[in-house]
Amino acid sequence: MHGPTIIINFKTYLSSTGENAVKLAKICEKVAIETHTDIRVAVVATDIHDVAEAVSIPVYAEHVDSYLPGAHTGSILPEHVKVAGASGTLINHSEHPMALEHVAETIKRASQAHLATVVCAATPDFAEEAAKLKPDFVAVEPPELIGGDISVSTAHPEIISQSVERVKNKHGVKLLVGAGIKTREDVIKALELGADGVLIASGVDKADDPEKALRDLIP
Ligand code: G3P
Repeated sequence: MHGPTIIINFKTYLSSTGENAVKLAKICEKVAIETHTDIRVAVVATDIHDVAEAVSIPVYAEHVDSYLPGAHTGSILPEHVKVAGASGTLINHSEHPMALEHVAETIKRASQAHLATVVCAATPDFAEEAAKLKPDFVAVEPPELIGGDISVSTAHPEIISQSVERVKNKHGVKLLVGAGIKTREDVIKALELGADGVLIASGVDKADDPEKALRDLIP
């Protein structure tokens, strides 16, 4: 493996859940192996088991709840996704936000279950607060660009530079960036600015040819 860490977030698109989650994860695995790239997938909780059985690349949960085991109907705990086959989890995605103290508790609980932690942040301010909690990665994504065709690299390179300073340089935590990333140039720009990798969804999940879309993103 070399180069950036690329996490493909499958979200809840029909094209990347259920049987399609396994198909897409196999494509991600194939591209990871053939290009020697660190590609990981984040999938809905109900797909973790099947996807983790099907591929050798890291499979992350998209969210976990921080409760201790007990009477919490409908919650999905770090221990559950770990047993299902996840090796990490996203935390505080802007589509599933939580307060900072809840982020702290979730990092703690996920770490107890031996899950890698990727804390999402909407701003460099929040990113620095998250970095102080020492997750494995902080992922900065301006919410207004998520799902669109204008990338964080193009629209807000200063958000990447500021986050590099405040997350990596100041706190020694690896930095991912995401939102609207659709081209190799977007990825290269993010890396040139100092990011360790990218978090991508629609550019791959919704592509007519996801394998080509993913290959075309790799620097
Ligand atoms: O988690 C990644 C995500 O929020 C970015 O989404 O569709 O803009 O690549 P997208």
